Amino acid sequence: MCGIVAYIGPKDATPFLLEGLARLEYRGYDSAGVAVAGRTGGLKVRKVKGRVADLAAVVPARFKGGTGIGHTRWATHGVPSDANAHPHLDNAERIAVVHNGIIENADELRARLAADGAVFRSETDTEVLAHLIAAHTAEGTELEDAVRAALGKVVGTYGIAVLDAEQPDRIVVARNGSPIVLGIGEKEMFAASDVSALVRYTRQVVHLEDGELATVRADGFRTFTEDARTTHRQPSTVDWEIDSYDTGGYEHFLLKEIHEQPGSVERTLSGRLDERFATAHLGGLNLDARELREIRRVKILGCGSAYYAGEMGAQLIEELSRIPAHSEPASEFRYRNPVIEADTLYVAVSQSGETYDTLAAVQEIKRKGGRVLGVVNTVGSAIARECDGGIYLHAGPEISVASTKAFTSTVVAFALLALHFGRIHDLSPADGRRIVAGLKALPDQIREILAQGDGIAELAAEYAESEGMMFIGRVRGYPVAREGAQKLKEISYVHAEAYPASELKHGPLALISPELPTVALVPDDELLDKNLTTLGEIKARSGRVLAIAHRRPDAKLADHCVLVPKSEPELDPLLLNIPLQLLAYHAAVELKRDVDKPRNLAKSVTVE
Ligand code: AGP
Repeated sequence: MCGIVAYIGPKDATPFLLEGLARLEYRGYDSAGVAVAGRTGGLKVRKVKGRVADLAAVVPARFKGGTGIGHTRWATHGVPSDANAHPHLDNAERIAVVHNGIIENADELRARLAADGAVFRSETDTEVLAHLIAAHTAEGTELEDAVRAALGKVVGTYGIAVLDAEQPDRIVVARNGSPIVLGIGEKEMFAASDVSALVRYTRQVVHLEDGELATVRADGFRTFTEDARTTHRQPSTVDWEIDSYDTGGYEHFLLKEIHEQPGSVERTLSGRLDERFATAHLGGLNLDARELREIRRVKILGCGSAYYAGEMGAQLIEELSRIPAHSEPASEFRYRNPVIEADTLYVAVSQSGETYDTLAAVQEIKRKGGRVLGVVNTVGSAIARECDGGIYLHAGPEISVASTKAFTSTVVAFALLALHFGRIHDLSPADGRRIVAGLKALPDQIREILAQGDGIAELAAEYAESEGMMFIGRVRGYPVAREGAQKLKEISYVHAEAYPASELKHGPLALISPELPTVALVPDDELLDKNLTTLGEIKARSGRVLAIAHRRPDAKLADHCVLVPKSEPELDPLLLNIPLQLLAYHAAVELKRDVDKPRNLAKSVTVE
């Protein structure tokens, strides 16, 4: 995934381009570049391997022009290098292109263009676009027509911005599978991959649809389809606050986002709890009670942490409504020719709403006539639009690559869905009231856990140097263990493995040693005794144990313990997960990792 920005107006484009790229850096951060149409003609281009700050350091003061495009990259075709960084140019250095997505027929196009004289200077698929657009730019051709003609030959996904040195009064952008948002200013216009790059400049935005292009000029824009039909798009107003995109005094976005959870959970719950009928109202489901009663099975799909949140969601749905529910990685589901059943409700989970594997799974289900709900954070995103209905998380923008507040809000959204289902089926009013009360109590309980941050930081310092860590949990605790292990490995690079506690003696117990500590989820529920027995087995093999528990286990069973407030048993996993976020965060800080931008990862994976 990559980030794109563009500016056209009376000011110099470069300051906006660099600032916008810095805000989009979560989308990719292995190389960056900018191009502006200079006031004296021709294009000025700077691109480097590295971060946006590395780019800013090599952009000279004289790098001026009122029309410009920029890019921050996450490599797919070709290693991160100066040459592979965007923008890419044609032979004459007239056309500059920045691109997010994948051109699937790049090899074939490259061979044809090279035979016609195009000289390729990078290994990227994107460079094909620059040469292809140039090939359609005969004397007098409007840039938008050249772009349309070129895109007609392209198979793949793209969000692009195109600059033409000879038509510096416009930028042409296009979307197919990768987002492009236009920002409408006062006699100036912006475009970007997402609104975080725009909100300091304008709140008026237009989200392009797939298959749509726009010609953007300083005084306005025109949107149209690939066959040149004009579309009429009304701007919408962005309601997220500007400070959502700053670290707000925290050392990292991740820590800020962990601490935002009491508020983000409140927003996910807001207006959705019905105390009178002890249920939840979910306006966006687009399914009435009768249709919901016909559902025999729920299948949840997502990737990475979204998949683990789905596992927690599946347990909530089964427990509260007794409808069989199961979560599966969308990335696997889409490739196995899945059976789509008419009485199964499919639920796609995604923070970004852009993850390609999840989007492809949704499209496969719909192609076969299935019904899909989205549990999505980003309003208007590709997955949200593709689904038949759904639940928005309202968690606010999540910038750090590791998901925390969106994860928690996803599980809260599933708790609401499970409650709604349950109360349509056989969940008693008393149990409904119990869950409603449990949900309402969550924000304060999360605050209680966050107040233990310093103690958890000390524990993280103690465990961070381990050669690896085991995470174990039983039944409701197992998805918590999986998410805890995922968080630790992605930001601290400490190897972490999650196992059902019940499976330990079937193999992984052989790994237990003082060098491989275990984080154990030990809720005070009907499986407490079983969990304590497992701790005894680990201690008997000289293993170190950090328990995340409601009650402190005997000192003989756990070396350390983080105490978590008790919720309702079905909701406990939500709270047990919070200390694991802090543990991973502080371990990553201790090991001096790049917490918000871990190596090799990007915030959302918009490629296969
Ligand atoms: C979460 O910490 C990870 N960065 C990753 O697993 C993520 O959850 C996954 O890529 C799915 O992203 P999405 O929710 O935006 O679809």
